[in-house]
Amino acid sequence: MRKTYNIIFSFFLLVTISCARVNKAIVTSPDGQIKVETGVEEGKPFYQIEKGNKKIIEKSFLGFILKGNDAFYKDFNIKNTEYKSFSEKWTQQWGEETTVDNTYNEVTVQLVEKSGRQRQLSIIFRVFNDGVGFRYVFPKQQNLSDFTIMDELTEFALVGNPQTWSIPTNHTNYFEHLYKKAPVTSLDTVSTPLTMEVNDSLYLTIHEANLTDFAGMNLTPKQGSSTLKVDLTPWSTGEKVFAKTPFKSPWRTVIIARNPGGLMLSRLMLNLNEPSKIKDPSWIQPGRYIGIWWGMHMGTYTWSQGPKHGATTANTMRYIDFAAKHGFSGVLVEGWNIGWDGDWSKDGDKFNFTKEYPDYDIVKLTSYAEKKNIKIIGHNETGGAAKNYEAQMDSAFAMYSKLGISCVKTGYVNPLLDHKEQHASQYGVRHYRKVIETAARYRIMIDNHEPMMPTGLQRTYPNLMSQEGVRGQEYDAWSPDGGNPPEHTTIIPFTRGLAGPMDFTPGTFKFENPALPKTHVHTTLAKQLALSVVLFSPIQMASDMIENYEGNPAFEFITSCPTNWSKTVIPDAAIGDYVIIARKDRKSDNWFVGSITDENARKLNLSLSFLDKNTKYRAKVFKDGKLADYRTNPYPVDIEELEVTSNSTLTLNLAPGGGTAIIIKKI
Ligand code: NOJ
Repeated sequence: MRKTYNIIFSFFLLVTISCARVNKAIVTSPDGQIKVETGVEEGKPFYQIEKGNKKIIEKSFLGFILKGNDAFYKDFNIKNTEYKSFSEKWTQQWGEETTVDNTYNEVTVQLVEKSGRQRQLSIIFRVFNDGVGFRYVFPKQQNLSDFTIMDELTEFALVGNPQTWSIPTNHTNYFEHLYKKAPVTSLDTVSTPLTMEVNDSLYLTIHEANLTDFAGMNLTPKQGSSTLKVDLTPWSTGEKVFAKTPFKSPWRTVIIARNPGGLMLSRLMLNLNEPSKIKDPSWIQPGRYIGIWWGMHMGTYTWSQGPKHGATTANTMRYIDFAAKHGFSGVLVEGWNIGWDGDWSKDGDKFNFTKEYPDYDIVKLTSYAEKKNIKIIGHNETGGAAKNYEAQMDSAFAMYSKLGISCVKTGYVNPLLDHKEQHASQYGVRHYRKVIETAARYRIMIDNHEPMMPTGLQRTYPNLMSQEGVRGQEYDAWSPDGGNPPEHTTIIPFTRGLAGPMDFTPGTFKFENPALPKTHVHTTLAKQLALSVVLFSPIQMASDMIENYEGNPAFEFITSCPTNWSKTVIPDAAIGDYVIIARKDRKSDNWFVGSITDENARKLNLSLSFLDKNTKYRAKVFKDGKLADYRTNPYPVDIEELEVTSNSTLTLNLAPGGGTAIIIKKI
């Protein structure tokens, strides 16, 4: 534990020790730049945040309404304050870098009601150099045992009227929306992460960390003001959270950064989750895979049985052969098990997770795959029938584990779980956690589609590899609105991406769907390559059907690009316009660069100063070819090789909807 307090911090430490009834506490970040002041005003707990002496969050009130219209927010005194400083470096099993710095100063404010039952509530504020996290703690106490939260009153009183990038809280769409740019006062109820630009040197993201046995958080502006209030996802019966002391809320988080890249490099959310509970993580292996998948979304194959059934033994063998030939780690197979034949998203109870269709020989295929050093990736679509899944989970995972299936993609295509409860409700949170924990016991990695919004649990359960909760590439196959517009992927790294790995599935090489001529991929081919670097996920699927990759020289980038990194740098980015990201492979000295633009062509300069000094590298650049344009001519990719050093600056010419992808190898 660090013993160094800065001046303000030690001053208030003295004050709190000498004064039994303080009504204020201050804690600053280790670099002294961020200051949180918290206290009680007329019985109501509040906090405010400054950075470099400028207010970032004005006085914002805290507390709850419990069942029975029971106010738990307005009759408090501070009983005690406790300060703490902490510093550690921890290693990520997989991630955007190997080592994470977790250094903070903290104050716990213990509150007690002045009258009546004199119930207690504590609030912990943790201040890092990249932002602030705070959580409520309900200690074990005589006058508060079982309780029900009807409303969380936490506020974020923003200064001015910042521009935000948001998606609406629409409980039926699994967070699969296009982000909209709008001033905070104009928002309806929105999901988090909520990213905002206060000015060109101040960016904030509000989200939550360690969502455990609670309800997912949304935000609503209070009466059209720029004060956002927490709006928890309810149970079908209206309650938000059923709890029993001792109890903790998730952390409410505010990342504070000077530029968009700073938001992406913040590890505050991960730091606010608990260390890994998996003692031997050797079986947790990142990788890049292919899937019997895009074919279903294009209508070439079906999930259900019949002449177009995709998950046949012969077709899967073809995919395994292709995966082995091109160095992929696995093959995802959807539609292999009983339950797909009717209206599966309505009749999830019909899914059987251990019985395969007659034309799919799971034993033969897993052993064929093993011989070729390929893993079959299991698929458990539940149609939202969570109870049906829970009842079969142990036997299914035991079977997969025996067959060598060590990764399972789960899915919940139904607006409600068990036809009743929202995905982000406490009900959903409990279910998703049960899946991760059960999977960990059977040494199975999870890729969760239609999830609750991620909150950094992969630190505690690194078998939670990736999640959807984003409008992914599949929309380019069938979306009635035509597919994802080019700016979408220049926004999601700074919004949904801040909640954790995204299973977006880039890497489509054939953009048209003859069945739906108005719907297609709105990028150039070079941008599809660059997205493999830009959109982080430790397991990532090259989305297309294998026949669309054969013989295309650009495929080399997909097969070379790792999914696990020792370092990430963001030389330049503007949310909604363009992004350049460089990442260093965990297993070698090679760097990979991805640069993407929205619908506008751009010339960007990339300094390679992140490379080792006095060292020669060979760069292989995959760039938009002559006259490339996502609307009219998306396919040309030029491949160029050149020698570079840390003193080199490359000019990247991105076509409209285009990108550049670069492999940089030490010579
Ligand atoms: C929606 C998922 O996002 C997609 O990847 C999957 O193929 C289908 N559901 C079927 O499970």
